[in-house]
Amino acid sequence: MQAHSILSITEEELSRIVLDIHDGPVQYQFTALSLLAEIQNEVQQTQPRSDLAPRLAQVAMLLESSLYEIRSFLGAFRPPEFRKRSLISIFEGLIFQHEEWTHNTVEFVAEHVPAEVMLPVKIALYRILQEALSNTYRHAGVEQYTVRVWGDDGDICLTVTDEGCGFDPAQLAQKLDENTQHIGLRGMKERVALLGGAFHLTSQPGQGTRLFIRVPASV
Ligand SMILES: Nc1ncnc2c1ncn2[C@@H]1O[C@H](COP(=O)(O)OP(=O)(O)OP(=O)(O)O)[C@@H](O)[C@H]1O
Ligand SMILES: [Mg+2]
Repeated sequence: MQAHSILSITEEELSRIVLDIHDGPVQYQFTALSLLAEIQNEVQQTQPRSDLAPRLAQVAMLLESSLYEIRSFLGAFRPPEFRKRSLISIFEGLIFQHEEWTHNTVEFVAEHVPAEVMLPVKIALYRILQEALSNTYRHAGVEQYTVRVWGDDGDICLTVTDEGCGFDPAQLAQKLDENTQHIGLRGMKERVALLGGAFHLTSQPGQGTRLFIRVPASV
């Protein structure tokens, strides 16, 4: 199977999973909550002194929290309309959302990005930037970072840099043998490899982190 079709299928499957969760379990939980509200009313009228009311309230609270969490998760995974939107507009949307959620500031610079970027490349770059922003937010310990994207001779280059705590990538590679966690960086590398691109991560404790990616605009 061609690399670009693998990347697109994964994204289509993800969209389907998001829809399935939304249309199935989320709707059941909504229905359960409204049935529960009816029962709570009835209990309040018929048995106002029983200990049922606080217990039912606790169930309702748990259901609401779980609904809230599932819906935030679905929001984060629902991909934008890749086909219709340009790469820059997709990046702007993602960065805006990241700033809203984290209250951090992302400096975004885009230069000479080709107007035509193929769908699998857009999808891969979107997922890579999403993970890079998430890593910087979760691990770097800074409130400001920079994203640059530019076109170069038919390729698209992307850097995500921060001046945060940094880390030792060699040590991480050793740890990976024993521990299969840390799927973020591996996923980025795999996406870049499928597109025949280049991936460089430079980091050092106390010296910040720089991620550089180069991929062809069309595959
Ligand atoms: N910008 C960064 N600043 C500091 N440390 C980082 C940065 N990016 C990555 N790291 C380090 O590299 C590790 C591996 O990152 P990776 O994205 O693979 O896994 P993760 O973020 O820990 O978990 P997940 O699988 O959810 O992505 C992180 O745990 C962190 O220690
Ligand atoms: Mg990560």
